[in-house]
Amino acid sequence: MIGIILGTRPEIIKMSPVIKECEDQGLEYFILHTGQHYSYEMDRIFFDMLNLPQPDYNLDVGSGTHASQTGKIMVGIENVLNKELPEVVLVQGDTNTVLSGSLAAAKLNIKIGHVEAGLRSFDRGMPEEINRIVSDHISDYLFTPTKTSYSQLIKEGIDPKKVFVTGNTVVDAVYQNIEIAKNKIDILKDLYLLPQNYILVTFHRAENVDIKERLEGIIIGLKLIKNYFSLPIIFPIHPRTAKMIEKFGFSLEGINVIPPQGFLEFLQLEANAKFVLTDSGGLQEETCILGTPCITLRDNTERPETLEVGSNVLAGVDPLAILNHAKNAVRRKHWSNPYGNGTAAKLIVDICKNTASEKSCSDKYGDETAAKLALNV
Ligand code: UD1
Ligand code: UDP
Repeated sequence: MIGIILGTRPEIIKMSPVIKECEDQGLEYFILHTGQHYSYEMDRIFFDMLNLPQPDYNLDVGSGTHASQTGKIMVGIENVLNKELPEVVLVQGDTNTVLSGSLAAAKLNIKIGHVEAGLRSFDRGMPEEINRIVSDHISDYLFTPTKTSYSQLIKEGIDPKKVFVTGNTVVDAVYQNIEIAKNKIDILKDLYLLPQNYILVTFHRAENVDIKERLEGIIIGLKLIKNYFSLPIIFPIHPRTAKMIEKFGFSLEGINVIPPQGFLEFLQLEANAKFVLTDSGGLQEETCILGTPCITLRDNTERPETLEVGSNVLAGVDPLAILNHAKNAVRRKHWSNPYGNGTAAKLIVDICKNTASEKSCSDKYGDETAAKLALNV
């Protein structure tokens, strides 16, 4: 039995190929939703749109401080794990759901598989960095998207037998949905947009939107871009960002603010944008896969592969730097996708299946696991 733990928008999207793989293989599994995200357009819409089974459990923890959210999730997960006794639980990414899920499982001696392991921004001011480090170091199976993240874990002393380069499940999710999106949805028409004739923006990181000066820097940068390019700026706004903009009293006049979109609509918006401005982790990857230039509104990134291939640049939050990067972005074209070929979910599930049959993965596959099963290593 595999326990799939998720709680936020990106986890639902990036776990969706893993869930589909479990379904296709007829495996015994359950989905535990922590309820960290709960608004329809941050949660249910993805289950509906991606045809995912409803979660078997929803802890409904909602929003809160880090400690209260993490604590509530841990207590809820412990109850479910004690009842279900899975052989392995899977967590994905770097949210508080991941931290709590892996801590609860580790204390019950249940094996943990961390999907998207080994990412580092080297910025411990980010809550996500703490979550990643802790989860990686208590996980039994670490599924890294690239050789870079694999090497990082080895550098930190993690046993190479536990680490598998699988690619990122976001590639699976994009490949599985981009054609469906083209056939089912016409969000460009709905918003009166033409391909390559608009700019897409999302940002929500605590270190950007909770700090007044940084939030202001981004908003001024967007207005400079609007004046320079005279193109619509489409901004599907994250609820955290909406809350903080209202709190600080900033105006988004001139920017086309829309509600958070479903994944199919959003993929279409990303694929056809002239360029994307974001502080999202998932968007740095998806733009790289889809061939859209990305400007990251941060000072660092745990996705250095996107900088190396040239799909992404770091602009920080200085308005003039944002504008200058936007002027250059339109010249960036053609790079390779470092995140794998869309088979990550199958590799992950195959490895988990063998743990579920009580055989340790390294016993089963030996030292050459990564070489045989995974990409590139
Ligand atoms: C969380 C993750 C972040 C991830 C992001 C994905 C942590 C520490 N942060 O950030 O890594 O990139 O999810 O989107 O785990 N809210 C709603 N409806 C919702 C969810 C949130 O209105 O469904 C509002 C609430 O006002 C809440 C705020 O957004 O206080 C922040 O939500 P929270 O889950 O704490 O963090 P995110 O910023 O979403
Ligand atoms: N996304 C979406 N609708 C939106 C904005 C984003 O479906 O309006 C998707 C996006 O395609 C990506 C994921 O949400 O797969 C990224 O989530 P988010 O930016 O909230 O989190 P992060 O990746 O930064 O953790």
